[in-house]
Amino acid sequence: MHDPHDHDDHHEHDHRMHQDGTTWQAMRTYLPRIREFWSNDVNSAVVDLVAPDEGETLLDIGAGMGAATFDAAKRVGRKGSVIAIEPTPFMRRVLGIRKLGNRNRSRVAALNGRAEELPVGTDMVSAAWAVNVLHHVSDLDAAVIELRRVLAPGGRVVLVDEDFDEPDHPRYEEMKARHGQKHGDHEHLMIAIDELGESFTAAGFRDVAARLDRVAGVPVRMLTANLLGPSDA
Ligand SMILES: C[S@@+](CC[C@H](N)C(=O)[O-])C[C@H]1O[C@@H](n2cnc3c(N)ncnc32)[C@H](O)[C@@H]1O
Repeated sequence: MHDPHDHDDHHEHDHRMHQDGTTWQAMRTYLPRIREFWSNDVNSAVVDLVAPDEGETLLDIGAGMGAATFDAAKRVGRKGSVIAIEPTPFMRRVLGIRKLGNRNRSRVAALNGRAEELPVGTDMVSAAWAVNVLHHVSDLDAAVIELRRVLAPGGRVVLVDEDFDEPDHPRYEEMKARHGQKHGDHEHLMIAIDELGESFTAAGFRDVAARLDRVAGVPVRMLTANLLGPSDA
Protein backbone atom coordinates (compact mmCIF):
# COMPACT_ATOMS: atom_id res chain seq x y z
CA MET A 1 0.00 0.00 0.00
CA HIS A 2 1.40 3.39 -0.91
CA ASP A 3 1.61 6.19 1.59
CA PRO A 4 1.66 9.36 -0.51
CA HIS A 5 3.22 11.31 2.32
CA ASP A 6 6.27 9.07 2.40
CA HIS A 7 7.61 8.67 -1.09
CA ASP A 8 7.19 9.05 -4.81
CA ASP A 9 7.79 6.63 -7.58
CA HIS A 10 10.62 7.85 -9.79
CA HIS A 11 10.89 4.44 -11.41
CA GLU A 12 11.55 5.07 -15.07
CA HIS A 13 11.62 1.51 -16.42
CA ASP A 14 8.10 1.55 -17.74
CA HIS A 15 7.75 -1.70 -19.63
CA ARG A 16 4.12 -0.99 -20.42
CA MET A 17 5.04 2.18 -22.27
CA HIS A 18 2.14 4.41 -23.14
CA GLN A 19 1.15 4.31 -26.78
CA ASP A 20 3.00 7.57 -27.42
CA GLY A 21 6.14 5.46 -27.22
CA THR A 22 9.45 6.93 -26.16
CA THR A 23 10.11 9.87 -23.90
CA TRP A 24 11.10 11.92 -26.96
CA GLN A 25 7.78 11.19 -28.61
CA ALA A 26 5.91 12.07 -25.42
CA MET A 27 7.88 15.33 -25.18
CA ARG A 28 7.05 16.20 -28.78
CA THR A 29 3.38 15.46 -28.15
CA TYR A 30 2.89 17.13 -24.81
CA LEU A 31 5.53 19.84 -24.34
CA PRO A 32 4.12 22.26 -26.94
CA ARG A 33 0.80 21.98 -25.11
CA ILE A 34 2.20 22.59 -21.62
CA ARG A 35 -0.07 25.56 -20.92
CA GLU A 36 -3.16 23.52 -21.69
CA PHE A 37 -1.95 20.55 -19.62
CA TRP A 38 -0.81 22.67 -16.66
CA SER A 39 -4.30 23.82 -15.79
CA ASN A 40 -7.58 24.23 -17.61
CA ASP A 41 -11.27 24.86 -16.98
CA VAL A 42 -12.39 21.30 -17.64
CA ASN A 43 -10.04 19.89 -14.99
CA SER A 44 -11.10 22.58 -12.50
CA ALA A 45 -14.76 21.80 -13.17
CA VAL A 46 -14.14 18.09 -12.64
CA VAL A 47 -12.50 18.78 -9.28
CA ASP A 48 -15.59 20.84 -8.38
CA LEU A 49 -17.79 17.88 -9.33
CA VAL A 50 -15.68 15.55 -7.18
CA ALA A 51 -16.04 18.06 -4.31
CA PRO A 52 -12.95 17.07 -2.31
CA ASP A 53 -13.35 17.09 1.43
CA GLU A 54 -10.77 17.63 4.18
CA GLY A 55 -8.80 14.50 4.98
CA GLU A 56 -9.83 12.53 1.92
CA THR A 57 -7.51 10.38 -0.19
CA LEU A 58 -8.25 11.05 -3.86
CA LEU A 59 -7.12 9.48 -7.12
CA ASP A 60 -6.37 11.31 -10.39
CA ILE A 61 -6.10 8.60 -13.07
CA GLY A 62 -4.00 9.57 -16.08
CA ALA A 63 -3.07 12.76 -14.25
CA GLY A 64 -0.85 14.14 -17.03
CA MET A 65 0.93 17.23 -15.69
CA GLY A 66 -1.39 17.42 -12.69
CA ALA A 67 -3.99 19.97 -13.80
CA ALA A 68 -6.58 18.41 -11.48
CA THR A 69 -4.13 16.90 -8.98
CA PHE A 70 -2.77 20.18 -7.66
CA ASP A 71 -6.18 21.83 -7.69
CA ALA A 72 -7.59 18.99 -5.55
CA ALA A 73 -4.53 19.02 -3.27
CA LYS A 74 -5.48 22.54 -2.14
CA ARG A 75 -8.80 21.20 -0.95
CA VAL A 76 -8.01 18.04 1.02
CA GLY A 77 -6.32 19.73 3.98
CA ARG A 78 -3.15 18.63 5.70
CA LYS A 79 -4.40 15.13 6.42
CA GLY A 80 -5.68 14.49 2.92
CA SER A 81 -3.79 13.34 -0.15
CA VAL A 82 -4.04 13.08 -3.90
CA ILE A 83 -2.51 10.13 -5.73
CA ALA A 84 -1.69 10.99 -9.34
CA ILE A 85 -1.47 7.87 -11.50
CA GLU A 86 0.43 8.42 -14.75
CA PRO A 87 1.93 5.81 -17.10
CA THR A 88 3.98 8.11 -19.34
CA PRO A 89 7.46 8.70 -17.85
CA PHE A 90 7.73 12.21 -19.33
CA MET A 91 4.42 13.29 -17.79
CA ARG A 92 5.45 11.75 -14.47
CA ARG A 93 8.71 13.67 -14.61
CA VAL A 94 6.83 16.95 -15.15
CA LEU A 95 4.52 16.03 -12.27
CA GLY A 96 7.57 15.45 -10.06
CA ILE A 97 9.17 18.77 -10.97
CA ARG A 98 5.88 20.62 -10.54
CA LYS A 99 5.45 18.98 -7.16
CA LEU A 100 8.83 20.28 -5.94
CA GLY A 101 7.62 23.85 -6.31
CA ASN A 102 4.15 23.28 -4.94
CA ARG A 103 3.20 24.29 -1.42
CA ASN A 104 0.99 21.20 -1.07
CA ARG A 105 3.67 18.78 -2.27
CA SER A 106 3.47 16.59 0.86
CA ARG A 107 -0.14 15.78 -0.07
CA VAL A 108 0.67 14.60 -3.61
CA ALA A 109 2.10 11.27 -4.76
CA ALA A 110 2.93 10.70 -8.43
CA LEU A 111 2.91 6.99 -9.22
CA ASN A 112 3.49 4.91 -12.29
CA GLY A 113 0.35 2.98 -13.19
CA ARG A 114 -2.62 2.57 -15.49
CA ALA A 115 -6.38 2.64 -15.03
CA GLU A 116 -6.43 -1.10 -15.75
CA GLU A 117 -3.96 -1.86 -12.94
CA LEU A 118 -3.96 0.77 -10.22
CA PRO A 119 -1.01 0.77 -7.81
CA VAL A 120 -3.33 1.52 -4.91
CA GLY A 121 -4.61 -0.63 -2.04
CA THR A 122 -8.17 -1.95 -1.73
CA ASP A 123 -10.74 0.50 -0.25
CA MET A 124 -8.08 3.21 -0.13
CA VAL A 125 -9.69 6.18 -1.85
CA SER A 126 -12.75 8.36 -1.30
CA ALA A 127 -13.05 9.56 -4.89
CA ALA A 128 -11.43 9.00 -8.27
CA TRP A 129 -11.57 10.87 -11.54
CA ALA A 130 -10.04 10.80 -15.01
CA VAL A 131 -10.02 13.67 -17.52
CA ASN A 132 -9.47 12.96 -21.20
CA VAL A 133 -8.13 9.50 -20.38
CA LEU A 134 -10.98 7.12 -21.27
CA HIS A 135 -10.05 7.10 -24.96
CA HIS A 136 -6.54 5.87 -24.00
CA VAL A 137 -7.72 2.95 -21.86
CA SER A 138 -7.50 -0.28 -23.82
CA ASP A 139 -9.46 -2.43 -21.33
CA LEU A 140 -12.29 -0.38 -19.83
CA ASP A 141 -13.80 -3.41 -18.05
CA ALA A 142 -10.53 -3.92 -16.18
CA ALA A 143 -10.56 -0.22 -15.26
CA VAL A 144 -14.09 -0.50 -13.82
CA ILE A 145 -13.07 -3.49 -11.71
CA GLU A 146 -10.02 -1.61 -10.46
CA LEU A 147 -12.12 1.42 -9.53
CA ARG A 148 -14.52 -0.85 -7.63
CA ARG A 149 -11.57 -2.34 -5.75
CA VAL A 150 -9.75 0.85 -4.74
CA LEU A 151 -12.79 2.95 -3.77
CA ALA A 152 -13.90 2.82 -0.16
CA PRO A 153 -17.62 2.48 0.70
CA GLY A 154 -19.38 5.69 -0.30
CA GLY A 155 -16.68 6.37 -2.90
CA ARG A 156 -17.44 8.47 -5.95
CA VAL A 157 -16.25 8.49 -9.55
CA VAL A 158 -16.20 11.22 -12.21
CA LEU A 159 -14.93 10.32 -15.68
CA VAL A 160 -14.88 13.00 -18.37
CA ASP A 161 -13.62 12.93 -21.93
CA GLU A 162 -14.02 16.06 -24.01
CA ASP A 163 -15.96 15.39 -27.18
CA PHE A 164 -13.65 16.94 -29.77
CA ASP A 165 -15.76 15.34 -32.51
CA GLU A 166 -18.66 17.60 -31.62
CA PRO A 167 -18.62 20.55 -34.05
CA ASP A 168 -19.57 23.01 -31.32
CA HIS A 169 -16.51 22.09 -29.26
CA PRO A 170 -14.35 25.26 -29.36
CA ARG A 171 -11.35 23.15 -30.42
CA TYR A 172 -13.16 21.04 -33.02
CA GLU A 173 -11.27 22.49 -36.01
CA GLU A 174 -7.90 22.42 -34.25
CA MET A 175 -8.30 18.78 -33.21
CA LYS A 176 -9.57 17.77 -36.63
CA ALA A 177 -6.49 19.37 -38.18
CA ARG A 178 -4.21 17.66 -35.65
CA HIS A 179 -5.69 14.19 -36.05
CA GLY A 180 -6.51 14.45 -39.73
CA GLN A 181 -9.99 13.04 -39.26
CA LYS A 182 -12.72 12.76 -36.69
CA HIS A 183 -12.13 10.31 -33.85
CA GLY A 184 -15.41 8.57 -34.49
CA ASP A 185 -19.04 9.24 -35.14
CA HIS A 186 -21.39 10.37 -32.36
CA GLU A 187 -23.54 7.29 -32.41
CA HIS A 188 -20.50 5.13 -31.75
CA LEU A 189 -19.38 7.36 -28.87
CA MET A 190 -22.87 7.32 -27.38
CA ILE A 191 -22.95 3.53 -27.45
CA ALA A 192 -19.53 3.36 -25.83
CA ILE A 193 -20.52 5.59 -22.91
CA ASP A 194 -23.79 3.64 -22.48
CA GLU A 195 -21.85 0.40 -22.36
CA LEU A 196 -19.46 1.85 -19.82
CA GLY A 197 -22.45 2.79 -17.66
CA GLU A 198 -23.69 -0.80 -17.85
CA SER A 199 -20.27 -2.05 -16.74
CA PHE A 200 -20.35 0.26 -13.71
CA THR A 201 -23.84 -0.91 -12.76
CA ALA A 202 -22.82 -4.56 -13.17
CA ALA A 203 -19.78 -3.92 -10.95
CA GLY A 204 -22.03 -2.76 -8.09
CA PHE A 205 -21.93 1.03 -8.48
CA ARG A 206 -25.13 3.00 -7.94
CA ASP A 207 -26.42 6.33 -9.25
CA VAL A 208 -24.63 5.53 -12.48
CA ALA A 209 -25.11 8.33 -15.02
CA ALA A 210 -23.35 7.82 -18.35
CA ARG A 211 -24.17 10.58 -20.79
CA LEU A 212 -23.24 13.24 -23.30
CA ASP A 213 -23.15 16.48 -21.35
CA ARG A 214 -21.23 19.73 -21.01
CA VAL A 215 -18.48 20.51 -18.51
CA ALA A 216 -17.00 24.01 -18.31
CA GLY A 217 -19.13 24.82 -21.35
CA VAL A 218 -17.64 22.18 -23.66
CA PRO A 219 -19.28 18.98 -24.90
CA VAL A 220 -18.12 15.85 -23.10
CA ARG A 221 -18.80 12.19 -22.70
CA MET A 222 -19.05 11.62 -18.99
CA LEU A 223 -19.86 9.12 -16.31
CA THR A 224 -20.58 9.69 -12.65
CA ALA A 225 -21.21 6.91 -10.14
CA ASN A 226 -21.05 6.17 -6.42
CA LEU A 227 -20.57 3.20 -4.17
CA LEU A 228 -22.99 2.49 -1.36
CA GLY A 229 -21.74 4.05 1.87
CA PRO A 230 -21.92 2.76 5.43
CA SER A 231 -24.99 4.92 6.13
CA ASP A 232 -26.91 3.52 3.11
CA ALA A 233 -27.29 0.03 4.57
C1 LIG B 1 -4.89 13.77 -22.84
S1 LIG B 1 -3.87 13.39 -21.47
C2 LIG B 1 -4.85 14.05 -20.11
C3 LIG B 1 -4.02 14.35 -18.89
C4 LIG B 1 -4.78 15.00 -17.74
N1 LIG B 1 -5.80 14.13 -17.21
C5 LIG B 1 -5.37 16.32 -18.16
O1 LIG B 1 -6.59 16.40 -18.34
O2 LIG B 1 -4.60 17.27 -18.31
C6 LIG B 1 -4.09 11.64 -21.31
C7 LIG B 1 -3.23 11.04 -20.23
O3 LIG B 1 -3.63 9.67 -20.02
C8 LIG B 1 -2.47 8.92 -19.79
N2 LIG B 1 -2.80 7.51 -20.07
C9 LIG B 1 -2.64 6.82 -21.23
N3 LIG B 1 -3.06 5.56 -21.09
C10 LIG B 1 -3.51 5.43 -19.82
C11 LIG B 1 -4.06 4.35 -19.06
N4 LIG B 1 -4.26 3.14 -19.60
N5 LIG B 1 -4.38 4.57 -17.77
C12 LIG B 1 -4.21 5.80 -17.22
N6 LIG B 1 -3.69 6.85 -17.89
C13 LIG B 1 -3.35 6.67 -19.16
C14 LIG B 1 -1.43 9.54 -20.71
O4 LIG B 1 -0.13 9.23 -20.31
C15 LIG B 1 -1.76 11.01 -20.60
O5 LIG B 1 -1.03 11.64 -19.57
